[in-house]
Amino acid sequence: MSLDHSGKPAVAPNDLSAFWMPFTANRQFKQNPRMLVASKDMHYTSADGRQVLDGTAGLWCCNAGHCRPKIVEAIQKSAAELDYAPAFQMGHPAAFELANRLVDMSPDGFDHVFFTNSGSESVDTALKIALAYHRARGEGQRTRLVGREKGYHGVGFGGISVGGLVNNRRVFGTLLNGVDHLPHTYLPEENRWSKGIPEHGAWLAEDLERKIALHGADTIAAVIVEPVAGSAGVILPPKGYLEKLREITKKHGILLIFDEVITGFGRLGTPFAADFFGVMPDMMTTAKGLTSGTVPMGAVFTTGDVHDAFMTGPEHMIELFHGYTYSGSPIACAAALATQDIYREEGLFQRAAEIAPYWEEALHSLKGTKHVIDIRNLGLIGAIELEPIPGEPTKRAFSAFLKAYEKGILIRTTGDIIAMSPPLIIEKEHVDQLVGTIKDVLEALD
Ligand SMILES: Cc1ncc(COP(=O)(O)O)c(C=O)c1O
Repeated sequence: MSLDHSGKPAVAPNDLSAFWMPFTANRQFKQNPRMLVASKDMHYTSADGRQVLDGTAGLWCCNAGHCRPKIVEAIQKSAAELDYAPAFQMGHPAAFELANRLVDMSPDGFDHVFFTNSGSESVDTALKIALAYHRARGEGQRTRLVGREKGYHGVGFGGISVGGLVNNRRVFGTLLNGVDHLPHTYLPEENRWSKGIPEHGAWLAEDLERKIALHGADTIAAVIVEPVAGSAGVILPPKGYLEKLREITKKHGILLIFDEVITGFGRLGTPFAADFFGVMPDMMTTAKGLTSGTVPMGAVFTTGDVHDAFMTGPEHMIELFHGYTYSGSPIACAAALATQDIYREEGLFQRAAEIAPYWEEALHSLKGTKHVIDIRNLGLIGAIELEPIPGEPTKRAFSAFLKAYEKGILIRTTGDIIAMSPPLIIEKEHVDQLVGTIKDVLEALD
């Protein structure tokens, strides 16, 4: 399909049946397709030639905005220079350069990164490292993993096992053994209309002590949580909650993994959520914003302690039997390096922090709008929760999504919650357009 940045309509393919689309209502979509054909900065161009304001940074990933020339050129150059290099027993300079850059920008204590191709792979990698780490230290009986209700950790078997969204789990069999879940921190009664971090619910972290009392600390390898949960409809950690989890895991020799796939790379106005909350986990899983969504890539950050536990045995032996053909592929590394340059040169994380109060006020101005029963926000994340239509959950929010797209903004819905996570280059006028359009859409909706 030919693309045109001036917004000229591009030709749509006439047969949509072969592509089985992910996490999509395929039959609904194919009757009335929503095709994007180009993108630039804060906007997409639709196949019918409209400019659509991106309220979701693609899928929480295009943090630097769209089609940034520096990233485009880096990808083009790398593709022409070194298209691919074997990831196992061979290297290429950009992967080492990127790993160093990432370690430098991460909280003190993270010394190593393992490259993957997605958030799901980062999660499964971190879970495997956790299990193997304990084994390497002679504590191989630590095989249990603890996730959280309503958690989303991608779609690999590890990720859906520790994840807590029922639709992502229930038709896929028995999943991993030995997984337990903490209670979620969604407390609508206590925390409704909260601006920023909600006050109530730190006590929910104490449930980990009950899990430990039930299973025995020495059987638990790791606890994994999203510092801020996105896919479940933006669930924020109550004040003191992450600190408490850190305290309990540390006390019992359990690794703490932050799934920073959406919070990594500036979403909260800091490089990582670990920086924002001042809580240092043992591993962080990332993807998405690493390359600003341009080339699939993920990275797992580990501390020296975790990494060094593997660096034993004969030096000619592989220390970790894990990796992907495309771990740290040259084009992905080039995209990531250029992305990190943009973040730094344009101070985009700081920018996100600066516009966050305006974002917060604009979102909360929707209080009182038809159907709205809660609003939550943190950094450049926002959620508007709607009263579900009785007996037809998700339908009202999905209708809002369709109407909003017609009116020129891209939002995302999960359940009856509108979730937003715009590119970090967003300007105040874009915030106004997003919020104003949502208001109009909701007021007109049954
Ligand atoms: C917290 C979290 N973990 C993991 C993933 C999975 O990432 P991917 O879709 O790149 O596999 C996501 C995706 O939204 C996510 O939000």
